[in-house]
Amino acid sequence: MAYIQVEGGNPLKGSLVVQGAKNAVLPILSAALLHKGTTELSEVPDISDVRDTLELLKLLGCRVEKQGHRVVIRAEGHLSGSLPQRMVGRMRSSFLLAGAMLGREGRLETFYPGGCTIGARPIDLHLAGLRSMGAEYVIDRDRISLWAKRLQGTDLKLSYPSVGATENLLLAAALAEGVTTLKGAAREPEIQALITCLNGMGADIREDKGTLIITGVSRLQDSAYEIPGDRIVAGTILAAVGSCGGEVRLEHIEPEGLRGVLEALRQAGMELWTDEVKHTIRARAASPLPRGMKLVTGPFPEFPTDLQAIFMAMLSVAGEESKIQETVFESRFRHVKQLRRLGAEIEVVGDTARIAGGSTLQGGLVEAQDLRAGAALAVAGLAAEGITLISHAEYIARGYEDLPGVLQRLGAHVALL
Ligand code: UD1
Repeated sequence: MAYIQVEGGNPLKGSLVVQGAKNAVLPILSAALLHKGTTELSEVPDISDVRDTLELLKLLGCRVEKQGHRVVIRAEGHLSGSLPQRMVGRMRSSFLLAGAMLGREGRLETFYPGGCTIGARPIDLHLAGLRSMGAEYVIDRDRISLWAKRLQGTDLKLSYPSVGATENLLLAAALAEGVTTLKGAAREPEIQALITCLNGMGADIREDKGTLIITGVSRLQDSAYEIPGDRIVAGTILAAVGSCGGEVRLEHIEPEGLRGVLEALRQAGMELWTDEVKHTIRARAASPLPRGMKLVTGPFPEFPTDLQAIFMAMLSVAGEESKIQETVFESRFRHVKQLRRLGAEIEVVGDTARIAGGSTLQGGLVEAQDLRAGAALAVAGLAAEGITLISHAEYIARGYEDLPGVLQRLGAHVALL
């Protein structure tokens, strides 16, 4: 088990090139499976979810070359294999291999996907869409076998804009026979990244008045794609500045993807300067404390659920009371107990947390129970007096590339133990 030690009380100062986005690269690694040739990716973050996904691609028969942040995937020949439960059980995104493998080989043997324990996280929307395209499946306990002849384009409508289901259906439709239309799709920037990458590979995907229109093609081509900056990592650093003070400049980040987040930070009193062309954000903390606010999480462009815990940490030291309503996942408040251990005054009623604000946090021993909850504890630790020790830091490494190193370079006293 890994620990992160954070000594609070030092403002963050300096520049940071934001890592490539976890939630963009994972579906794009599945997309690489669709092409019987070479896909070259740059700015791939060095995080454990990426390493695990590359292992899954290798198990299916792809050749993978990784050098720093550059990854080359060669997916020639016949791909097959049964994915091991211990690996797919770690990541929700492992199920994105279903759409890609059905499109490419018409078959996949896998298991129910894992990921952070933040709610029931069913895959009914994925399965219903794939079935409408002609796929069949059998579920036996956790084991899922899927097969299809050639997937057929059809008209699909999602009852909720699920990010994963949208991605799975885009992957399935890229090589399907005929045209697929998808209404009610998610609109997260990571969906746009997947579409841009797929179109660069030779797919034919366009949007018309909110409907995605995918015209199946019979083959794709070699391509190169740069993974955009991670808006959740950027939001984490900005919330850290909000909670412990300072001034930072972020590079390799598209401000548009953080619209709702920047609005919330401005409400908290932070000064922000954005450059849409250079892809930079400069931020100066509010003085002396962030202001309280009401936040409601929701599908993009609403406030991202992945920053809910992290903003709760920041708002624990705000001057006034705040309220955060979580509408995306039903049990995403496990961090509350840990934040309380550091002295935060938080009360949860139903889907809403009331954060009293005005708390002086005190360092202590806390446990990272999922990826973003772990990052929230690091943010709280930066604002706390004394030393905070975060156990199970391996959860944080699923999505953050060297978070301790990043914070240290910005002047914080943080170490990986
Ligand atoms: C993705 C992100 C995750 C983020 C989430 C919401 C990745 C790898 N993960 O997760 O970081 O928190 O989007 O922005 O990109 N749902 C169903 N049935 C389904 C699918 C989803 O009911 O078949 C529900 C979920 O239980 C949840 C809601 O829809 O309540 C949103 O889930 P979804 O958008 O699918 O999130 P993920 O793709 O799992």
